[in-house]
Amino acid sequence: MKKIVVLSGAGMSQESGLRTFRDMGGLWEEYDVMDVATPEAWQRNPELVNRFYNDRRRQLVDCEPNQGHRLLADLENDFDVHIITQNVDDLHERAGSSKVLHLHGELKKVRSSVDPELIFDLDGWELKLGDTCPKGSQLRPHIVWFGEAVPAMDEAAEIASTADIFVVIGTSLNVYPAAGLVHYTASNCPVFVIDPERPPLSMRGVTFIEEKAGAGMLRLKELLGSL
Ligand code: OAD
Repeated sequence: MKKIVVLSGAGMSQESGLRTFRDMGGLWEEYDVMDVATPEAWQRNPELVNRFYNDRRRQLVDCEPNQGHRLLADLENDFDVHIITQNVDDLHERAGSSKVLHLHGELKKVRSSVDPELIFDLDGWELKLGDTCPKGSQLRPHIVWFGEAVPAMDEAAEIASTADIFVVIGTSLNVYPAAGLVHYTASNCPVFVIDPERPPLSMRGVTFIEEKAGAGMLRLKELLGSL
C-alpha cells in the first residue's frame, strides 16, 4: 500500500464550524496570541488563558467531523494514511482516521505544569483553576504554546520523509516547524495542497487544489485514482 502523509491545519475543521486563526474573522483577530497562547501568558493571567481554552473545548462538543475528515478516513481503504495535524480538535479521530499525530497538543487533554509526562483526559469541557495533578501542581491545557518545543516534531519529520504522497490541507504554512515538514519529503514525492487560498509554497511537484477541504478531498480522490 502506498503511504499518504497529510499535514492538516485549521482550515480542515472550518466546515465543521471551528474558526481558523489567520483568516478574516479568525481567532487571532479577536485575541492577541501573546495573551492566550504562550507560557508567559499562563504565568501572567491564567484565568484568561484557561477561559480561552475552555471556550474552544466547549465549542468542540457541538462540532462534527466534515466531509473532508470523512473522505480522509475513507482513504485508509486504499492507502496507508498518516495524518500529522496542527489542530488540537479530535475531529480526525472522530471521523475514523486511525493514525493521527498531534503536533500542537490536544484540547481534550490536560497536563501537569511541573511534569510534562503527566497527561490526562479531561472529563467534560471545563478545566478549573485549582484542579491539580497527583504531584499537586495546577493542571494546564495540553497545548504546545508559542515559544515551547514541539515534542512530536522528530516523529513527524520521520513520517514525512517516508511519504509516497504528501497532502497539505487547510494551513497557511505560517507556523514553524510544522510548515517545514513538506521539505522532508523525497524529491520524487508528489505534493497536493488543498486550500481556497494558495499558501506560499515554492517547490517542485506541487499540485494546488483551490477548494475547501470537503470539495478538495473529492478532487484529490479523483487525482489519486489516476496516479
Ligand atoms: P491558519 O488560520 O493560519 O490558516 C488556515 C488556512 O486554512 C488558510 O490558509 C485558509 O485559506 C485555509 N482555509 C480556510 N477555510 C478553509 C476550508 N474550509 N478548507 C480548507 N482550507 C481552508 O491556521 P493554521 O495554519 O492551522 O497554533 O495555523 C497554524 C497554527 O497557528 C495553529 O496550530 C495554531 C495557530 O496559532 C497554536 O495555537 C500553537
